Amino acid sequence: MVVRLSRRLLLGGAVASVAPAIWTSAGAQGRLAADPFRVGVASGEPLPDGVVLWTRLVTNPQAMDAGMAPAPVAVRWEVAEDPGLTRIVRRGEETARANTGHAVHVEVSGLKPDREYWYRFSTGGHASAIGRTRTAPEPGADVQRLRIAYSSCQKWEAGYYAAHRHLAADNPDLVLFLGDYIYEKKLSREPEGIVRPHPDVDCLDLASYRQRYAWYKADPDLQAAHAAAPWIVTWDDHEVSNDYGGAADRTPLTRDLFLKRRAAAYQAYWENMPLRRSSRPKGPDMPLYRSLDWGRLARLAVLDDRQYRDGRTCMSVEDGKRIPYDCPERLDPKRSILGGAQERWLQGRLSDTKARWNFLGQQTLLGELRLEEGKVSNDGWDGYPATRRKILETWRDAEVANPIALGGDVHCFFAGDLSLDRKGPVIGTEFVGGSISSLGRANKSLAGAMLVNPHLKFADGEARGYGRVDLTPKACTVTFRGVNGLDKGSAARDLATFVVEDGRAGVTRA
Ligand SMILES: [Fe+2]
Repeated sequence: MVVRLSRRLLLGGAVASVAPAIWTSAGAQGRLAADPFRVGVASGEPLPDGVVLWTRLVTNPQAMDAGMAPAPVAVRWEVAEDPGLTRIVRRGEETARANTGHAVHVEVSGLKPDREYWYRFSTGGHASAIGRTRTAPEPGADVQRLRIAYSSCQKWEAGYYAAHRHLAADNPDLVLFLGDYIYEKKLSREPEGIVRPHPDVDCLDLASYRQRYAWYKADPDLQAAHAAAPWIVTWDDHEVSNDYGGAADRTPLTRDLFLKRRAAAYQAYWENMPLRRSSRPKGPDMPLYRSLDWGRLARLAVLDDRQYRDGRTCMSVEDGKRIPYDCPERLDPKRSILGGAQERWLQGRLSDTKARWNFLGQQTLLGELRLEEGKVSNDGWDGYPATRRKILETWRDAEVANPIALGGDVHCFFAGDLSLDRKGPVIGTEFVGGSISSLGRANKSLAGAMLVNPHLKFADGEARGYGRVDLTPKACTVTFRGVNGLDKGSAARDLATFVVEDGRAGVTRA
């Protein structure tokens, strides 16, 4: 295993059959024989005066080279005030280059705050789909409403993306994607777990991560969700490697080889997401945590709980995933899931906020989840309780208005109250899930966990789907929207709706 992983990393070898390139133009100006917009368009990172527009030139999403010759390609873009693109307000040209996977990131500025725009790319006689985006309100603006749709975990082989189709139809102002955008692994060894296959390889080098993104992004429902609204993204583990943290994962790779793998994975992530140039990775490092303000209505702090976390601990038990609740190393007050710099940054964002609602967009369940046998998982916040305590204490001591955590990762919907040591006053509220397609747990198996975790007020592990947050100055209404992930054409239904009233933390069923 080690030898194979190492060779692949060092040689950057191809991992699947290579389709012939069908790109006909060697230059920037020629006509292209095939549509290069096969993975759609996206926008993200809205500011009051601008937004990032994204596309990636791919003529064959299944090919290792995306069907692209190495030559640079000039790509035109335009932004309009209307869906028919008749009132163009900005236009320009970018060069898509092979060294960034022919991705295009346009940082548009000079737009008006708090309004919708539509955009399109074109090159070589082809035009992309038209995407809708919007800018954020001005700082201090008196905003009356905001709709955020959030989700995570879209394992390709496990199901379809009906959830994305419904999410797009809900017409959100923002989409928040909380990680596991791709899964890096080979196909499941149980054929019945494979609803639709992808190449049966582990992603280990830049070419294979790039191919996995193109493979996922060929899905029309995912493209519809990207074209519907600006996205704010963060990653979890599977954008790199299962359960990785800092400079180590669960494979036998040495630190140096793992960091090479991480660098390839981060590069492919940046190329495939509507992120700013300021997030572009340098080797194995990529700045991703950041915050977004929506007038005076909301502040969203987006965390990176993978890149800077301390290593796993209390590993002597079972498979090392479940650790004893009272393991002393777990409780070490210096242990961090965010790292010192990000913790200090977050303290600042929480201390100087003037927003009525303060969201944490982060990877997983923030509250404690004691497992039936008196153990906890070491991969999420339960492996790093000191950082969780600092956040809750800051919420309490800085009197942060209406703190709400949004999470993903666990492939279940959870709604829960957040308080220090599971007792005392409720300080914050959290809403987790669901997964777009990744398989969850039978609700019967969650019943025991609910009994020993009474701060969790709702759980559903059987439906796939997303959360919809409707915000006004008076209330935050969260609806869990469920689909059948095995059914491409699945309808969506409301699983549960909760209301958090201004000034009253905690889960209340509507
Ligand atoms: Fe996941």
